Amino acid sequence: MQKEIRVGMIGFGQMGRIHSYAYRSIPLYYDGNPCKITLKCVCDTNESLAKKGVEQAGFESYTTDYRELIVRKDIDVVNVCTPNKMHKEAVIGALKNGKHVYCEKPLAFSEAEAKEIVAVADQTGLKHQITAEYRFIPAIMKAKELINADFVGRVFHFRGLYLHSGYIDPKRPREWRLMKEMIGGGVLVDLGPHILDIMQYLVGDVDMVSATMETFFKERPLPENPKKKGKVDVEDAITAILRFKNGGIGIAEMSRVATGAEDEMRFEINGQNGALAFNLMKPNELLAFNANDPKGVQGYKAISTAQKYPAPAIMPAPKFTMGWVRSHVAAQYNFLDCVVNNRMPSPNFHDALKLHHLMEAIYKAVEAKNWVKV
Ligand SMILES: NC(=O)c1ccc[n+]([C@@H]2O[C@H](COP(=O)([O-])OP(=O)(O)OC[C@H]3O[C@@H](n4cnc5c(N)ncnc54)[C@H](O)[C@@H]3O)[C@@H](O)[C@H]2O)c1
Repeated sequence: MQKEIRVGMIGFGQMGRIHSYAYRSIPLYYDGNPCKITLKCVCDTNESLAKKGVEQAGFESYTTDYRELIVRKDIDVVNVCTPNKMHKEAVIGALKNGKHVYCEKPLAFSEAEAKEIVAVADQTGLKHQITAEYRFIPAIMKAKELINADFVGRVFHFRGLYLHSGYIDPKRPREWRLMKEMIGGGVLVDLGPHILDIMQYLVGDVDMVSATMETFFKERPLPENPKKKGKVDVEDAITAILRFKNGGIGIAEMSRVATGAEDEMRFEINGQNGALAFNLMKPNELLAFNANDPKGVQGYKAISTAQKYPAPAIMPAPKFTMGWVRSHVAAQYNFLDCVVNNRMPSPNFHDALKLHHLMEAIYKAVEAKNWVKV
């Protein structure tokens, strides 16, 4: 008989909705694999949102206290979609109650908290995965496949950007993402986990960093009283220069005030044998340059990756265009498949801890105005 996985969702804001959508649609995308999914309980401290989780996403029940959710015997998997400061308590609580955990990025508020989480996770032997959905875009999967096959060869350069423009409006309220006590940092911990994860996944570990950052809007209106302004203590933009352990060099730039950008995660990798380039705004293709092509016909080739997911994915057909939500569906399918088939998912909390370590080294480099060993 098919295994049933019963899900508890903590946080039903933007990402709670996306993750719930993904759980609901996995059986359709993957022809019933890898298990029967039951949405048992949704939790949000905002009761009206928790109720929407029942009404709109189809959870059987709701609560406003995550502690009630994590002790339930009829829940196998806990999914954490709260602001960063709330991750640790919920994740550790869920693990200690025997639940497998899927947690939004970044894993925690700080490297120290991420270490605490990993220590507990390792003791339990339960399955854990971090939301790094971009690893589950066919173009990125193709990039990894080509790199493993030595298409790029010795890496000289990595150039990565993750750019948003949503914070150029000075009237944007100072919500939790603009408060260090809730998020743990600025754009580095917000967009950084994505581009830095892809960088480490494709290029390798960083040896040394140097960095600079800026907060362009030092005050913003308070959400509860827009006439009053509150101090912003996190950066809007940060740029890091990197030296990789494999000898390559690179840059990573993250900004929430990049005028003109939508959801612009871009990278280029230049190596001895070839080069790869990707832009999240053009998610259907990977650009690949083969240095071994005959002179005269050399040039970047757009490899059509569209929605070419391996079986048991059955829909949409591989030729159809790729969207952001589809990568979440694929990431959560991977997690459930690992839970059902007793494998540790990748990227897991160990990968997430490594990212926290890198991000803290980048902040140390800003502070020191100098190179820092990672
Ligand atoms: N993977 C991605 O592409 C991506 C995109 C955006 C955000 N995120 C991450 O997702 C997480 C949530 O971000 P979001 O954009 O959904 O934020 P959000 O503000 O839209 O939603 C967070 C929800 O958590 C609820 N909440 C707060 N404290 C709670 C608690 N103690 N118990 C239960 N519910 C609580 C809030 O009421 C809110 O509804 C963050 O860690 C963020 O970094 C990831």
